Amino acid sequence: MIKKCLFPAAGYGTRFLPATKSLPKEMLPIITKPLIHYGVEEAMEAGIHNMAIVTGRGKRALEDYFDISYELEHQIKGSSKEPLLKEIRHIQNSCVFTYIRQKEMRGLGDAILKGEPLIGQEPFAVILADDLCVNENDGVIKQMVKAYNRYKCSIVAVMEVPQNETHKYGIIKPLEQNDSIIKIADMVEKPSNEEAPSNLAIIGRYILTPDIFDILRSIKAGVNGELQITDALKLQAKEGKVLGYKFEGIRFDCGSIEGFVKATNYMYKKL
Ligand code: G1P
Repeated sequence: MIKKCLFPAAGYGTRFLPATKSLPKEMLPIITKPLIHYGVEEAMEAGIHNMAIVTGRGKRALEDYFDISYELEHQIKGSSKEPLLKEIRHIQNSCVFTYIRQKEMRGLGDAILKGEPLIGQEPFAVILADDLCVNENDGVIKQMVKAYNRYKCSIVAVMEVPQNETHKYGIIKPLEQNDSIIKIADMVEKPSNEEAPSNLAIIGRYILTPDIFDILRSIKAGVNGELQITDALKLQAKEGKVLGYKFEGIRFDCGSIEGFVKATNYMYKKL
């Protein structure tokens, strides 16, 4: 059973400066809900109620968001605005949140490793909140939890990207594909167009088995001098212990301004 979801949320979000100077990028709202709220809802839909958040300096707004604001509750009680708090109250009432700080920005692999005390020795989900995923049916993490229950190994969500965008992603080298499940031979972080083994990119949804922590401890920094989760998964993949999952749904890259605006327009039309 996947019971915990890790949210690496320590990054600076420099593409959204100056807004992110004092606001965590995960708190940027798509209409009225911050990005991380969508991620938490996606995890809850998959039956996960334990949210482990790796934060950093200047990220306290995240903790406050998932806590009760007595003053606000007092002000709003009985007013016409009270229904606006319904969804966040539901999250507060049904989930447990734990936090740990990543002191230095040493990459996604390091952020995940920093989350180890919150996860322990069990398989867990990872959601990168700035990849916003939507689907009419099961959400992406729910789809992946179902796949995990069947295959019991690490799973990465993948989608096809234009060949000239491979340098933005971890890219897999597929071995064979059976419907949405892809056996992975190898993977590489942010390869150039020429070096990319395919155009199948890993997006910000993972199911990881806990041996990933020891692997992360054993590897060296990779691309950009950062500890890369892709490099750790590559070692698991060599042993046939990672699957790619071609998810159903739409993914918005809300780490980019263009993707953020697209997601906003999409959600606005759904109101
Ligand atoms: C990270 C991962 C990369 C993955 C991407 C998905 O990169 O390192 O493998 O493809 O997330 O969004 P980042 O976007 O943090 O540079």
